[in-house]
Amino acid sequence: MISTNKSKYKKVILAYSGGLDTSVAIHWLLENRAQKVIALAIDLGQGDELGPIQKKALKIGASESLVIDAKKEFVNEYIWPALFANAIYGDYPLATALARPLIAKLLVQTAKTKKADAIAHGCTGKGNDQVRFDVSTMALAPHLKIIAPAREWKMTREKSIEYAKKHNIPISIKKKSPYSVDLNLWGRSVECGILEDAWKEPPEDAYALTKNQKLAPAKPAYITIGFKNGVPITLNGKKLDGLKLIQRLNQIAGNHGIGRIDQIENRVVGIKSREVYESPAAVVLLKAHKDLESLTNTRETIIFKSFLDQKYAQLIYDGRWFNPLRKAIDEFNKYVQKRVTGIIRLKLFKGSVTIVGRKSSFSLYKHKLATYGKGDLFDQSAAEGFIKIFGLDLKSI
Ligand code: ARG
Repeated sequence: MISTNKSKYKKVILAYSGGLDTSVAIHWLLENRAQKVIALAIDLGQGDELGPIQKKALKIGASESLVIDAKKEFVNEYIWPALFANAIYGDYPLATALARPLIAKLLVQTAKTKKADAIAHGCTGKGNDQVRFDVSTMALAPHLKIIAPAREWKMTREKSIEYAKKHNIPISIKKKSPYSVDLNLWGRSVECGILEDAWKEPPEDAYALTKNQKLAPAKPAYITIGFKNGVPITLNGKKLDGLKLIQRLNQIAGNHGIGRIDQIENRVVGIKSREVYESPAAVVLLKAHKDLESLTNTRETIIFKSFLDQKYAQLIYDGRWFNPLRKAIDEFNKYVQKRVTGIIRLKLFKGSVTIVGRKSSFSLYKHKLATYGKGDLFDQSAAEGFIKIFGLDLKSI
């Protein structure tokens, strides 16, 4: 429940990133809305050193500072189901959007174990993320209060920095970047600064995971990804657990400049924004998965599933992960994935990823039916009768 009551709560669990906004939020909450703040940092593979972040929260005034490593859960319970659904919003593989329901779930869990009466997050009132945190919390713990300090205080970035200086809140140099960045295993989202000019090409410093294609290796790299029931399990023939596979693929594909996305986005709150993303592993895996799914499943399944895929991506984007429809589609997708076992071969070269080969023991590709060469078993004369009936209704329009 979004808190409209401006009194102070006893104990508030704050989703803490160590950045400017959530650091200021600890202080602001203690001044305005909370008697005690527990900071909760969640490791989703953002590569930050969480030890110093933990200490920082205590220094600012948090009464406890917790860290949860949720990388495995993120991979198995969020990223793989999204991969099964080929989930993409525009061209964006939904890295930030996918992480939010998991963070909300951990906030709610912590609120229960610590007997807190509210949770808090650092989102502003203009973005999708506030919707995702709030709606997820409403679904999981309808009576828990939600505070979004940045939505209440309405400070500009400059004002937040001033506030931090005034109250001795350390601002890390990294955070002096002109961009707002969110990072996890599935990708990096970048906005603000010069990127708000939709006509300007993003400067190189907006990117961190991918090489500019000019600097990428002059020779292509060929890689293989092996899938079992829709889950990527090998990279270049080597068995890797999901987390390692994604991390390794982020490096390999990022080195070839793959996964840069620049798009105009339609936010849930009604505005259009310009967003830049880097998702090397996600872009490669989504492409490979979709191809293998198509190789191994029937035409009707693939066409029908594409509508569900689109709905699934929207559920993630809109923060409605805990809608039972998502679970229902998960069950459908799991059934379809039973055939998604095989190997995809890809070429990575100067910012582009191309599928160059695929094989599977579930393959429905029959060379004898597809070939235009010798040994063709397809009865072309049967096509005539089929087309006569298939197009009949259109003849009488
Ligand atoms: N537009 C993306 C989304 O709605 C990313 C939002 C967060 N981006 C950021 N740079 N902090 O999922």
